[in-house]
This record gives sequence, C-alpha cells and structure tokens, in this order.
Amino acid sequence: MEKHPQEPWRVLEFYSGIGGMRYSLTRAGLNAKIVEAFDINDTANDVYEFNFGHRPYQGNIQSLTATDLDSFGAHAWLLSPPCQPYTRQGLQKQSNDPRAFSFLNILELIRDISRPPIMLFVENVVGFETSDTHSRMLEILEEADFVTQEFILTPLQFGVPYSRPRYFCLSKRKPLSFQNPLFDNQLLYSPTPLSWHADKEVLCEHDQTQESLDKLIRSCEPIERFLELKSPSQQPGSGFLDATGALADDFGALEQDGKRDGDDVRSLKQYFVPLNLIERWGSAMDIVYPDSQRCCCFTKSYYRYVKGTGSLLATVLPEKKGKASSLKNQGLRYFTPREVANLHSFPEDFHFPQHISLRQRYALLGNSLSIAVVTPLLQYLFAESSR
Ligand SMILES: C[S@@+](CC[C@H](N)C(=O)[O-])C[C@H]1O[C@@H](n2cnc3c(N)ncnc32)[C@H](O)[C@@H]1O
Repeated sequence: MEKHPQEPWRVLEFYSGIGGMRYSLTRAGLNAKIVEAFDINDTANDVYEFNFGHRPYQGNIQSLTATDLDSFGAHAWLLSPPCQPYTRQGLQKQSNDPRAFSFLNILELIRDISRPPIMLFVENVVGFETSDTHSRMLEILEEADFVTQEFILTPLQFGVPYSRPRYFCLSKRKPLSFQNPLFDNQLLYSPTPLSWHADKEVLCEHDQTQESLDKLIRSCEPIERFLELKSPSQQPGSGFLDATGALADDFGALEQDGKRDGDDVRSLKQYFVPLNLIERWGSAMDIVYPDSQRCCCFTKSYYRYVKGTGSLLATVLPEKKGKASSLKNQGLRYFTPREVANLHSFPEDFHFPQHISLRQRYALLGNSLSIAVVTPLLQYLFAESSR
C-alpha cells in the first residue's frame, strides 16, 4: 500500500472492544485514521459507538474475506485477539482453541490480499509468545516479507502504578524498517528502543531481582492520583467509612459522576467488600493503599471474584499496613470502573453509556489495554526510518 506523505495512515482495528487501540492511536498524535473497527460483542460496540460516534462492524472476524479486507485499502492493522487460548488459567489449547481461529484466519489472508498492510500491531497476554499460534504468526509474517520486533512491557515501566505485563508484536513490511533495526527479530523486556525512554534509565519487571523490582515500583506515581474517591484523611485510623459502615459526605463528586454514568453504578456502598468475603478470602486478597505505587492487573472477572482478579483498596489506614492488621477494619473496597479506566490510562472523556451494568464495565475494562504502554509502541511502529 503506497501512501502520499500528507495522506493519513489508513488503519483497521480488529477486536476493537471499547477502543483501547483507537485511544492509543489518537494519543500517539499520528496522522492516522481508523477506517473500520471490528468486534462481535454488541455491548463493547455500544461503548465504542458512544465514545467515537461510529459503530464497529459487528460480526465474526473469521468470516472476513480477502476481498473485504482489500476494499479498505488499509496501511496498518491493529489486532488484540482473544487471550483465553494462552492464559495460565485456561486450558492452553492455543491454536486448537476455537477462539484462536479468527486470528490465524485473518493472518493467512495477508497472502491473498492484493494490497496487504505494511504495518501490523498485535497485543496479547504473556504466554502467547510461547504458543503455536505465535510460531505460525511469525512464519506468516516472514513469508510475507515482514520484519518484527516483540516486547513484553508493563505500565510500571511508564510511571503508572499498575502491573499488567503484556506481549506486543510490531511488524513492518520491507522495505520499511524500524528506527532501531538492532532489535529486529528479538523479544525485548524493556522499552529501550522506544524514543520515549531514550534518555532514561530503563527498568523492567522481568528483571527478577527484588532490588530492581523495588526500584521500578518506586519510579511510579502513587495510586492516589488515579482515584476518583479520595480518602479525606490519610491518617491512621481514619478513612471515608464511618463506624457504621455508612459513607461519609465527601464523595459528592462520585454521586454526580454516578448520575452521569447511570443508576447502577451510583451507590458507593456497592464498592465495599462484604465482610463474609473478607473472612473467606482475605488471605488471597491483594490489598493496596492510596500511597502504594503498584497494584495488580484487573481482569474481566474483577468484582465477580476476588482471588487473582485485581487489587482491593484499603480506605482506612491501619496502624500497620498489610494483613497483620485486621482486614475487616481497613474499609476494603473495589476500585471503581473509572479508577480502573484511569489505571489503563483512558482519557477523562471516556464514558460508559448508562445501560452498561457495573459487571459489564469491569469485564470490558479487564479485556482492554494500557494506553500508556500502547501509545509509545505505536509511535515507534509508525515512525519512519531515516535509513
Ligand atoms: C482482548 S479483547 C480486545 C479489547 C480491545 N483491545 C479494547 O481495548 O477493549 C478481544 C475482543 O475481541 C472480540 N472478539 C473475539 N472473537 C472475535 C471474533 N471472532 N470476531 C470479532 N470479534 C471478536 C471480543 O468481543 C473482545 O471485545
């Protein structure tokens, strides 16, 4: 696909969900436009349409043909296919999992398209890089004359107090090349090649020493900056719950936001973790504080299950942090969907339409991605090499 220098890059967004890729593309400040988005889930498409004024093509990506794809004349494809075939919690059926079929199918079509894309960006979970789907993807890309650079990166490396390591594949068709061709055909665990970090000391979560992990975490902002519900006082023993568990008045802000976002999410009480859950699952909970500089990945099951689905926030500071103090007295609450969106670096003007339930909001956000991480990767992918 040739492009006139002033012409915007024409981009297709596959598995568009709530538009994390589109937000990243916008934030990257590139002369690029999404010419079509594709997702099978109508709830995700409602949210996408609400924010972008365009409803993605609602159908199975597997049924797209080479002719369909050719008609878009796209220069770049952004893809975040389902991750269940590769997650540790899943059965790890990889390419044999029906949820992997559409992705391989669309990659195979690159061969049959008369105007194939010249850039590709793939996002997935850690674990994808050792799958047979990954091996097949690299084979297809190599056969089609693409050069690739791969990354496993987390928001912690970009100053966001959020651990969400993810796999990314950036690929360009020759004669295009990366600005740092030294890293061609490598899997990198640090953002070194991205210009964003060119003059910074680079730390990576993969570097397993406790000292380097601590250093990485210390480089992040406190979680408090990402909260919509702030505790009125950070003093031990105080918080925004009074003794009866009723909410203090300080949260008019959320009440107003809640009205905008719908009845379903307005009540503050629903964010507090019930005592019976604390009794049963307390030892498995990841508890963080407003001044913590790291929290755990929010999955699509956050709020439905507490174990391994994301952190809980202590709103009453105990004398001693952690599980040494009774969890029942720490006013544990879930992060609100807006707060999860903040940790995913979604812009302030991102909203859910009223009819999307609380559980659906968490599920859609859990499936989405970190804009803080994807933005510099897209800038790097689209940067033209000076060679
Ligand atoms: C990992 S999520 C991607 C989320 C997206 N990047 C975002 O920012 O919200 C995968 C998405 O792919 C959609 N999907 C899965 N299989 C599909 C298929 N065969 N055809 C179309 N969409 C599909 C799901 O509905 C889901 O929204």
